[in-house]
Amino acid sequence: MKRQVAVVGVGGIAQAHLTGWLEQPDAEIALLCDVNRTIAEERQQRYGLTAARIVSSLEEVFDSDCTLVDLCTPSFLHAEQSVACLEAGRHVLCEKPMANALAEAELIAAAAARHPELVYMCEHRMLFDPLVVAVRQRIEAIGQPFWFRQRSAHALAISPSIAATGAFLDIGYHPLYTALHFLGPAERVYALQRQSVRPELANDNGLYVCEHGQAVSVVEGSFSSIGMMGGTRPFELYGERGTFIGNWMPQPQLQLFTGEQGGPSSMGEPISIPPGSWIGNAIRHFLDLVNGLTQPLADAAAALQTMQAYDAALRAVATGRSQEIVRAGTVG
Ligand SMILES: NC(=O)c1ccc[n+]([C@@H]2O[C@H](COP(=O)([O-])OP(=O)(O)OC[C@H]3O[C@@H](n4cnc5c(N)ncnc54)[C@H](O)[C@@H]3O)[C@@H](O)[C@H]2O)c1
Repeated sequence: MKRQVAVVGVGGIAQAHLTGWLEQPDAEIALLCDVNRTIAEERQQRYGLTAARIVSSLEEVFDSDCTLVDLCTPSFLHAEQSVACLEAGRHVLCEKPMANALAEAELIAAAAARHPELVYMCEHRMLFDPLVVAVRQRIEAIGQPFWFRQRSAHALAISPSIAATGAFLDIGYHPLYTALHFLGPAERVYALQRQSVRPELANDNGLYVCEHGQAVSVVEGSFSSIGMMGGTRPFELYGERGTFIGNWMPQPQLQLFTGEQGGPSSMGEPISIPPGSWIGNAIRHFLDLVNGLTQPLADAAAALQTMQAYDAALRAVATGRSQEIVRAGTVG
């Protein structure tokens, strides 16, 4: 029997999720849940979801046979809704960011820890992007990684709730969790936040510099970089014996350089990027976790570490000085 999922909040990003769910042979979208019935009806029609029921509250989701909940609601609801779903015995896939603040993220992490029988996954999309998958598959080629750089950027229209949190948390969250994924948890963070040219946003540019033991990451998020998805979105990962240089624009491309320090380096053939989409891969990972077939890449602990780095970054912005990570409330 197929697993039944309720997609909750079927606005902007949910459209990608609906496509991703439709790719899965062992799951079906049983409920579309939104406080705005008009948008739910539009999605039902556009994606041919005639068998899916439209509901408007989590209570109705909990009254159904859906064991999976996919939260695509605004981030100020993520803590309350993720905790409610876990307490109601549902596996949770939640859009990023994990929450709007560290204290909220700690509530989710605590609920996930109370329910080890359930999956909580934060939608850390970059980790499932085929380009990043290709890096992960070959990570041993570069030896110990010591430096990571990435920029996530665009200048598109965004929903009001994202405008309220700004680029620093919203789009900056993507390269931040990617840095932690490759370099491990951050210990100290320095950060800058700016409202450069989009006064309607809480902030439109942000920079994080994280220390992960001896390794360093430098990551940026921008909602004011004009061009196709911000012009370029470079991905750079430097290791003791090699370097990955990737870019999504104009096409996804990835190069691996290998060599010895103090010696010549060689440029291998461009790496072929595996087929698939970030959302199809992410939802497959979620289902595999529910079926006990794989190890988590974006569980509550990973998302909490990202929120801890964000929290330190906020303190760095406020003080102008780098800040230690605070791990009070860390799970486990
Ligand atoms: N992964 C990505 O690249 C990416 C891109 C955009 C947005 N996001 C994230 O996705 C989330 C949603 O962003 P969006 O741009 O799609 O927002 P949106 O405003 O377009 O959609 C949110 C939807 O949730 C509905 N909603 C609000 N309160 C609800 C409730 N209590 N119950 C059910 N539905 C409710 C709204 O009616 C709306 O349809 C945010 O957390 C955002 O950060 C991720």
